[in-house]
Amino acid sequence: MARRVTTQLLLLLVGVAAVWATRSRTELLNVCMDAKHHKEKPSPEDELHKQCSPWKKNSCCSTNTSQEAHKDISYLYRFNWNHCGQMTPACKRHFIQDTCLYECSPNLGPWIQEVNQSWRKERILDVPLCKEDCQQWWEDCRTSYTCKSNWHQGWDWTSGYNRCPAGAACLPFHFYFPTPAALCSEIWTHSYQASNYSRGSGRCIQMWFDPAQGNPNEEVARFYAMAMSAGALSRGVEPLLLSLALMLQLGLLG
Ligand SMILES: *[C@@H]1O[C@H](CO)[C@@H](O)[C@H](O)[C@H]1NC(C)=O
Ligand SMILES: *[C@@H]1O[C@H](CO)[C@@H](O)[C@H](O)[C@H]1NC(C)=O
Ligand SMILES: *[C@@H]1O[C@H](CO)[C@@H](O)[C@H](O)[C@H]1NC(C)=O
Repeated sequence: MARRVTTQLLLLLVGVAAVWATRSRTELLNVCMDAKHHKEKPSPEDELHKQCSPWKKNSCCSTNTSQEAHKDISYLYRFNWNHCGQMTPACKRHFIQDTCLYECSPNLGPWIQEVNQSWRKERILDVPLCKEDCQQWWEDCRTSYTCKSNWHQGWDWTSGYNRCPAGAACLPFHFYFPTPAALCSEIWTHSYQASNYSRGSGRCIQMWFDPAQGNPNEEVARFYAMAMSAGALSRGVEPLLLSLALMLQLGLLG
């Protein structure tokens, strides 16, 4: 009798856990974050502009956002890339690509976190960018200048766009970002981290990709969503199994 009840309980538990894991996994896939310019849900956008065009087939950004992503002091965030003189075009293209990834990608679900900010309800945290993407970004910005290592906070916004705050010296990028990993993690307050994985590994997010080969970040999101829901599952099920074992031992089920 006790054994039958136990088996039934276990089966029920496994069933509930499986349903729950599948649901939490799909909630992390093919989603847009709740932020300033994102669409509610990803969908095709035939007219995405230049560097944002890889996301045409399925995108969280509108055509308008993709166009604005290519401008200086755009309507998106009024952000001034040239706060320490002109940023070189080779460097700026990485910031445009970063904006396209942030605004357009439907594959960042595993790293979306709720935040209490006036301009957005969700952010991304520690997205593992492929190491070559961080490396190239850092190398191409070698000859540009900046005055801060955190570009989210601490600017002087009195003119309607960001300028260097008093006392922050304009110096070569490498002074504020000594390594590619420092650039990727520090600049947007840990929105990204430099992954140790390489492009094409299926284990890191590519800022750049050729859409003719499909979007490589779909597989990456699936992998991390699976890993995260498996982690959550074992954390959730373990206490249940323990209490079941305890109940059995105490004879409560016999
Ligand atoms: C995008 O939309 C904003 C707000 O409606 C507008 O001010 C801006 O001019 C538009 N940008 C483009 C490129 O159409
Ligand atoms: C968000 O911050 C505001 C102002 O600091 C505070 O009043 C509010 O309770 C916070 N909300 C949450 C959900 O933490
Ligand atoms: C990558 O590897 C280095 C050296 O082994 C380590 O210090 C770093 O934490 C790793 N980064 C990540 C994101 O795992």
